[in-house]
Amino acid sequence: MNTTLRENIDWVGYVDWTVRDFHGYNTDRGATYNAYLVRDEKTALIDTVNSPFADRLLHNIGELTDLTSVDYVVCNHAEPDHAGGMARVMEALPNAVLVCDKKCEAALGRHHDTSGWKTLIVATGDTLSLGRRTLEFIETPMVHWPESMFTYIPEEKLLFSMDAFGQHYASSQRFDDDAPLCTVMEEAKTYYANIVMPFGRQVAKVLERAAKLDIEMIAPSHGVIWRSHVAEIVEAYGNWARCRPKPKVLVIYDTMWDSTGQMARAIHEATSEAGIAAELINIRASNLTKIATEVLDAACVAFGSSTLNQGVLPMAGAVLTYLKGLGPVNKAGLAFGSYGWSKGGPEAVDEDMKAMKWEVLREPIRAQYRPTAAVLGECRAAGRMLAEKAKEVASDRKAGGRVCVDP
Ligand code: FEO
Repeated sequence: MNTTLRENIDWVGYVDWTVRDFHGYNTDRGATYNAYLVRDEKTALIDTVNSPFADRLLHNIGELTDLTSVDYVVCNHAEPDHAGGMARVMEALPNAVLVCDKKCEAALGRHHDTSGWKTLIVATGDTLSLGRRTLEFIETPMVHWPESMFTYIPEEKLLFSMDAFGQHYASSQRFDDDAPLCTVMEEAKTYYANIVMPFGRQVAKVLERAAKLDIEMIAPSHGVIWRSHVAEIVEAYGNWARCRPKPKVLVIYDTMWDSTGQMARAIHEATSEAGIAAELINIRASNLTKIATEVLDAACVAFGSSTLNQGVLPMAGAVLTYLKGLGPVNKAGLAFGSYGWSKGGPEAVDEDMKAMKWEVLREPIRAQYRPTAAVLGECRAAGRMLAEKAKEVASDRKAGGRVCVDP
């Protein structure tokens, strides 16, 4: 496996082929925890790994240099998937000084006993010379935690971007041009939607700062390293940061006795017949991770639930709670669903859409027990309405693009 980014700059992380659950995120393709070793007159380790794999990291470092020769350990992000192994690493590297920003020092102090660690606090604009190469630090608060930062090596045009531009993707390949690009982009989008989406505003600021850097290579803390498709991933981040919609409609539903299912299919059929890409998602045949990823760039969402105990079905509730936390913007939508003797399901969906500041295109479509022909006609009309709305987005994009902004 090629692990060399530049002369004497190497990947020393861990590929976790078997993990399938990352605090609720379905990691169908596993994950990687990337760490990098920069050897110069001084040697710096950039980030560590999740704690169970700290000894694998130390083994990888030991293959390249003596552990006593590591001078600095840069912590770009205190979350345990990158800094969980920090205590073991600081113990095993006796001459290393921890390099991090002020907030990171505090966060690490909450996770570990840091009392014996030598620490160098840095802030945006600070530099640290390693000899021929320099580390420059750029704080990136809320991408993805308050203490997060980038480390940049100007002499190599190389950016260590921690979570940003990452993917949960276990692979034998370390670089974007060795791996299948469609898969890498799909995983980058899934990662953005499920981890980074709530911080779109901060991502937009980070992209502005990154645009001032001369970057040839981006080495994130997860997944493959970008060296041939840097422009593509930066452009994708620009679109995702704004939840820039595509002309695409989602019909997401959960159903008790298939009444809401019938309504979903009627909406979906009418949208598809109008020539718009429409996806029908039965919540119980999908999962939160996939649904959030599809919502990220959808123009319109029809969301349906049968009524249970005057509210939505439990899995529909889980999806709505998850989406409200992630806060996707620039969506138009409508609610639908069935009820028996008391209303509640579609009304609750409608409220949640409004809470997310989506443009709600009409009042909820309701069916008592079974959808009548008239209700199914309403659903088909709603499907056509969604298609028209999505077509507006298509023409905006063709015209050079309404880049919708976070309200
Ligand atoms: Fe990969 Fe925010 O940790």
